[in-house]
Amino acid sequence: MATQYFTATSLDGFLATEDDSLEWLFALADIGESSYPAFIAAVGALAMGSSTYEWMLRNADAVIKEVGSPWPYTQPAWVFTTRELPRIEGADIRFVQGDVRPVHEAMRAAAGEQNLWIVGGGELAAQFHDAGLLDEMIVQVGSATLGKGKPLFPRRVTSPTLELTSVHQMGKGMVELRYTVGAEPPDRGAP
Ligand SMILES: NC(=O)c1ccc[n+]([C@@H]2O[C@H](COP(=O)([O-])OP(=O)(O)OC[C@H]3O[C@@H](n4cnc5c(N)ncnc54)[C@H](OP(=O)(O)O)[C@@H]3O)[C@@H](O)[C@H]2O)c1
Repeated sequence: MATQYFTATSLDGFLATEDDSLEWLFALADIGESSYPAFIAAVGALAMGSSTYEWMLRNADAVIKEVGSPWPYTQPAWVFTTRELPRIEGADIRFVQGDVRPVHEAMRAAAGEQNLWIVGGGELAAQFHDAGLLDEMIVQVGSATLGKGKPLFPRRVTSPTLELTSVHQMGKGMVELRYTVGAEPPDRGAP
């Protein structure tokens, strides 16, 4: 069981534009060609921040067209927010706030042997990392820059660094990078 931050980012490290648009992303690659189908099959619970959830609310018609229902996940989900947000009918969701650790415990209990997906955004994923609970980052880097927007991971991670474990090119529009979190710094040999 691993806790994984799986997301797409622009080359310059933004998940979305300043006004939370993901339009830049959709032209870049077909999700079916990515590792997403295998990844999601191994996910037992997921967590997201409020803007990610509100994107689903705003784009319900597009989500229905894609997957046949306004909520694309069958796994139990935790949505972090300090506000009262509308529910999506048929979605297995709990609204939570504050410390990520008890939520992680509840997610583990629900997921059994399966993985936990931190959907994003970056600040929420970073809170799991701050608590020592993030095992892997799986980042699909799009061949586009945004200049500014919502950050991939608003923390400094330098010691230990992340450990790159795989690279997978998806045509000209994307590359998927997998990192293990919390690994020792790479051995560069004697100075
Ligand atoms: N490119 C991609 O694949 C991808 C994936 C995921 C997300 N995104 C985008 O990333 C952007 C940011 O996403 P996000 O807002 O969902 O996540 P976020 O930036 O990590 O979190 C921000 C919001 O989530 C809530 N939140 C986070 N931690 C909390 C805590 N411990 N307790 C209570 N509330 C907490 C707060 O909502 P309230 O203000 O409601 O209290 C906060 O304003 C969005 O534009 C989203 O669409 C893109």
